[in-house]
Amino acid sequence: MEKKEQWGSRLGFIFAAIGSAVGLGNIWRFSYQAYENGGGAFLLPYLVALFTAGIPLLILELGLGFRTRSSAPLSFKKIGKKYEWIGWWSVGVGFVITVYYTVIIGWSLAYVFKAFNLNWGSNPASHFTGEFLGATGSVWELGGIRFFALACLIIVWLANYFIISRGVQKGIEKASKIFMPLLFFLVILITIRGITLPGSIEGIKAFVTPDFSKITDWRIWVSAFGQIFFTLSLGFGIMIAYASYLPKDSDVVSNGIITALANSAFSIITGFGVFGVLGYMAMKQGVPVSEVATDGIGLAFIAFPKAINLLPAASRIFGVLFFLSLVIAGLSSSISLVEAMVAALIDKFEISRKKAVTYICIISLILGIPFVTGGGLVLLDIVDHFINRYGLLLVGFVELVVISYFFGVDKIKKAVNPSSNTEVGPTWSIMVKYLSPLALIFALFLELIKDLTSLYGNYTSLEIILFGWGTVLIVILLAFNLARREITLKTNV
Ligand code: PHE
Ligand code: NA
Repeated sequence: MEKKEQWGSRLGFIFAAIGSAVGLGNIWRFSYQAYENGGGAFLLPYLVALFTAGIPLLILELGLGFRTRSSAPLSFKKIGKKYEWIGWWSVGVGFVITVYYTVIIGWSLAYVFKAFNLNWGSNPASHFTGEFLGATGSVWELGGIRFFALACLIIVWLANYFIISRGVQKGIEKASKIFMPLLFFLVILITIRGITLPGSIEGIKAFVTPDFSKITDWRIWVSAFGQIFFTLSLGFGIMIAYASYLPKDSDVVSNGIITALANSAFSIITGFGVFGVLGYMAMKQGVPVSEVATDGIGLAFIAFPKAINLLPAASRIFGVLFFLSLVIAGLSSSISLVEAMVAALIDKFEISRKKAVTYICIISLILGIPFVTGGGLVLLDIVDHFINRYGLLLVGFVELVVISYFFGVDKIKKAVNPSSNTEVGPTWSIMVKYLSPLALIFALFLELIKDLTSLYGNYTSLEIILFGWGTVLIVILLAFNLARREITLKTNV
């Protein structure tokens, strides 16, 4: 067997971990969630979720990988043979997310090209769903492959292949050391432009003005916990795999805290930029900010192009920079998703890195093709909704229970504390044993009731059952199947 790979430097690891955390979600998901959930008042639940669940869980995942020096499936196998499938489950959820997450990175890349001469025309909404995606509004009507989107998706996969096949230090670490400073620079530029535009102040007000009437609404709290989980890339086995490459004397606790704080700072700073731009747009069109702020995907691919159309010619380069920052943020996150799978395959099947990367890239690309057809937008929306809740959040809950009860938080403490400047103590134990699992199961329960009593997004029940619940189920079955295969025996911790 090849020798276990390692990060070359502490900074390299931190950049890679931040690269995973900071993704598409920081740029549009956070802004929109904050705005929708009470503006400045959202920051309170968000910060509570960050400190009571986000950081403690991040340290827990890092600690497990650091101790077992293995990918998620093997880490869980080391806890107990019957738990291996949980590792595959989390990696499987990551796999599904990778398939469509890379599609969105591909769209962002397409929009970098379009941004050069405002190729989205005077009506970016119809350009996005019409000319670009040829959206049919139904999964049953695929409407043919969108070749430009497919070409961009292939480029995204080539980039992933190129970086990950070179290994942890020469590939991932090196790329992160270029990507992260560049991304930081781009975001600062965009934010400065955003907040200095005329009218920006109205947008920023909409973003930060607290609507305290909303803070007693439990749904805000559920959103905050969901956002923190997704934004820190928890529950995919990524942080487990990344920490398995840490040298023995690493300061795991501080690394985790730095990663989490940098990720949130990034979201909040970007939020100012995004809402500055929206404020400008609202002023130009003489409408309130609430009318220009659309949801999720629309914010990046419709609202932003509209705003860029309104900018003076000299500032239009910011469109290119904005979509470029999406590409870089997305790419560094997809690398971490793929690495979690690659590490799992290497651990289980003892195949070479090259082979593992090749398999994953080709299979994911093929599975991504339905998402670049006219029916892709609906498919993406459904799969994303269900896999995030009954994949990600559920896996996170199960992981948490297994690690903190069947493995024991004390073993994690013993593994991370000796080499860390900041130690985790009793408060941390309480968070990971009681508070976080309770918050997660509560959030899940409420979401489940909603999804059982109404059809998400007004899609048909057949679409929801097949592509929503169906995807969730297939991942679980696959996880069981993989865990059952007896290939290598490395169960001693
Ligand atoms: N944390 C990333 C974001 O905020 C999302 C992500 C998901 C990253 C899955 C890696 C894996 O966009
Ligand atoms: Na993030």
